Amino acid sequence: MLVNGRHYRSVWMEKNIVYVINQKLLPQKFEILGMKTVEEVADAIQTMVIRGAPAIGASGAYGVALAMLTYAKNGFSRDFEDKISLLKSTRPTAHDLFHAIDYVLDSIRNETDINKKIKAAKKSAEEYANQSIKACKSIGMFGSELIKDGFRIATHCNAGWLATVDWGTALSPIYFAKRQGKRIKVFVDETRPVLQGARLTSWELRQEGIEHYVISDNALGYLMKKGEIDLMIVGADRIAKNGDVANKIGTYEKALVSKDNHIPFFVAAPTSTLDLKCKSGSEIPIEERSEEEVHYVYGFDDKGEWRRLRTTPKGVKARNPAFDITPAKYITGIITENGIFKPHNIEMALR
Ligand code: MRU
Repeated sequence: MLVNGRHYRSVWMEKNIVYVINQKLLPQKFEILGMKTVEEVADAIQTMVIRGAPAIGASGAYGVALAMLTYAKNGFSRDFEDKISLLKSTRPTAHDLFHAIDYVLDSIRNETDINKKIKAAKKSAEEYANQSIKACKSIGMFGSELIKDGFRIATHCNAGWLATVDWGTALSPIYFAKRQGKRIKVFVDETRPVLQGARLTSWELRQEGIEHYVISDNALGYLMKKGEIDLMIVGADRIAKNGDVANKIGTYEKALVSKDNHIPFFVAAPTSTLDLKCKSGSEIPIEERSEEEVHYVYGFDDKGEWRRLRTTPKGVKARNPAFDITPAKYITGIITENGIFKPHNIEMALR
């Protein structure tokens, strides 16, 4: 998508360097970070410099290409395997990460010559990122059919182009609807504790000139009850075989208030998010992040100084589960690159 008139992806590789938009500094600073080692990529994923399931996946894919380049230099296969394990250990919930890494590994398995292995790894990582963009565009096309002129749409977290390679999942239908000339308003949950909604979704929608309101995480039930929301669309980090969905913490509660208020609740995700090995949501690993994210808020003050402010009393404990599971029964439909499916039929999206 465009930033100040120039097209960007959230992650890309050029001359053996992996570049990402540093999402920790947005919305105040737009900065590109270049990484030459797998360790740097792993750290960027773990610390959420780059985040969102498909973007994590593409970063992992490029990370394998970097691991292959290092292997070509020092020749230790044990070291290569350690680097792959490091990438896989960064964030446990997003299925795209594992899917993408295995995609690139598969492409080099049958190559014997080291230069051919490097070429294949770089090529398939690029292919993975391009396919991801194509899938997100299709999600936008299918999903925009759900949006009528004048719709007021709620979303949670950031499932926009920053969270994918381009276009987004939950936001892609919104971008298409805008291009189709539909008048829309978006209600953006701020999404404590990392504030992906307040910081990133709001920044994206502003860049696209889409009318939106950031709301506190507790406001949606009230707005739905008052008849101010027509549709809710969220992304997904992993979808189980039975259609249960893991997504940003708080998604489950949003699905419940949507159900109670008869508001259609859609999940938008590429099929790379589907994990048929997990029979239901209870088998999806849920990441628990550091207490620090709950105790502190971070950001730039009006003078441009980076600040970290504590909001809880010193010494208290916090819990920070990063995702929750929304049972399939609360989901109206899942928008994929192959069409819109009922959650219990999600396997059909792969055929
Ligand atoms: O912890 P994050 O910011 O990586 O979580 C992101 C989400 O939960 C998104 O909704 C999900 O990855 C879908 S992204 C298109």
